[in-house]
Amino acid sequence: MEKRVKKLDHTSHLILHRTSQKEVRDGVTVIVKGEGIWVYDQNGKRYLDLDAGVTRPVHVGHGSKELAQAAYDQMCRLAYFTPMSFANVPAMELAEVLSGIAPAGINRFIFECGGSEAVETAMKLAKHYHYYRGDKGRFKIMSRRGAYHGVNGIGLRALGTVMPMRQVMEPLAPGAAFIESPYCYRCPHHLAPQNCDMACARDLARIIEFEGPEQFSAFIGEPIQQAYGALKPPAEYWPIIRDICDRYGILLIIDEVICGFGRTGKMFATEHFDVKPDMITMAKGLTSGYVPLGAVGCADKVMEPIEVFNHLHTYGNHPVPCAVGVKNIEILERDRLVENSAAMGDYFLDGLKNLQDHPSVGEVRGTGLWLAIDFTIDKKSRAPYPTANLMNLLARAKKKGVITKTMGLALEFAPPLTIRKDEIDFALKVVEACITEEEKALGL
Ligand SMILES: Cc1ncc(COP(=O)(O)O)c(C=O)c1O
Repeated sequence: MEKRVKKLDHTSHLILHRTSQKEVRDGVTVIVKGEGIWVYDQNGKRYLDLDAGVTRPVHVGHGSKELAQAAYDQMCRLAYFTPMSFANVPAMELAEVLSGIAPAGINRFIFECGGSEAVETAMKLAKHYHYYRGDKGRFKIMSRRGAYHGVNGIGLRALGTVMPMRQVMEPLAPGAAFIESPYCYRCPHHLAPQNCDMACARDLARIIEFEGPEQFSAFIGEPIQQAYGALKPPAEYWPIIRDICDRYGILLIIDEVICGFGRTGKMFATEHFDVKPDMITMAKGLTSGYVPLGAVGCADKVMEPIEVFNHLHTYGNHPVPCAVGVKNIEILERDRLVENSAAMGDYFLDGLKNLQDHPSVGEVRGTGLWLAIDFTIDKKSRAPYPTANLMNLLARAKKKGVITKTMGLALEFAPPLTIRKDEIDFALKVVEACITEEEKALGL
């Protein structure tokens, strides 16, 4: 028997993340249980979880007793010991497993509590790398307009997000510069893909020259970008960025927090491109969200000059989430979930392509099980779809039993990697019904 719970409202003591007072006054759904790709609310209503917990970490699906058992076993054996001057077995084991599956050259690992902390740590490691080589003036981070790299200090500074998270927290610490994102559907440089000569990537050199090449520590970017919805850049993009970073002695950090662990049909999305990062950041799918864990993977080149990494986090290299991480990767490999992501991703994308005749469907995109529909109210001018109508789509889908999310002007889909064809068919049917209803309301 489920414990009886009611909706969260203004009488609750809990503060929610990024939730308006209006939403709270209207009453917020409480999710009480999850099984596979399904979750259940306080009234027992079932939803297909089309974004793996909405922030998309739940790669192996909900309700894995194996992951729970791994956490339990490790807590009984050793729940905690410091990451300074001592090691523990699960952290060593997870580092070894990761060295076997990470992009070529990524060989040394440090563990934190989530993606934001992983990003902070990567940027601190970059600063240490330059500092110990006697290059102490390099402090700036290059990011992209449209980027999201977390909510902490340096990550927040590098936030080029479309959401108002950056603006509220200003003034931010100095030291961030931005290039545009490779958003071909609505090119920020107002160019067409057939004759743009990858201006969005080549512009990196111009901005570095303007800002002062000797001041730059690192470039950070997601291999496939969440901003605007599951945005895969053209094949030439990352090699150009790598080349410019090398030319100016800047480290390249590839942020795999969303993409890593099979989300895009490969273990890491870096594998879709001909590029070698100096560091990668990871979180989410590393433990399928069952316990908080983030990580940074470094090439030997980065760690070699660093005598001491002046950094200490009580919960760093924590044995319990690391034990869950080891079991999680075992499940991903044993159940061939990365392969399922590639196959089901293709199937899902084909289904989305069938929606392209809808007047409001601007572009559909997808790599593995990370997909999006970019909406417009005018296919010719690609004019933005109003946010209010996007939110209506979410509400309509929820009513019909599908939980999904928006990103930029898009609906974004990132289900557990265990999803099957019949479940995708159900999701597509609901999504199409919602689009049709909203188009009618808009008079399209
Ligand atoms: C690319 C990227 N980096 C970093 C983060 C921050 O991770 P966390 O929310 O675990 O702090 C996120 C979160 O969505 C992300 O998408």
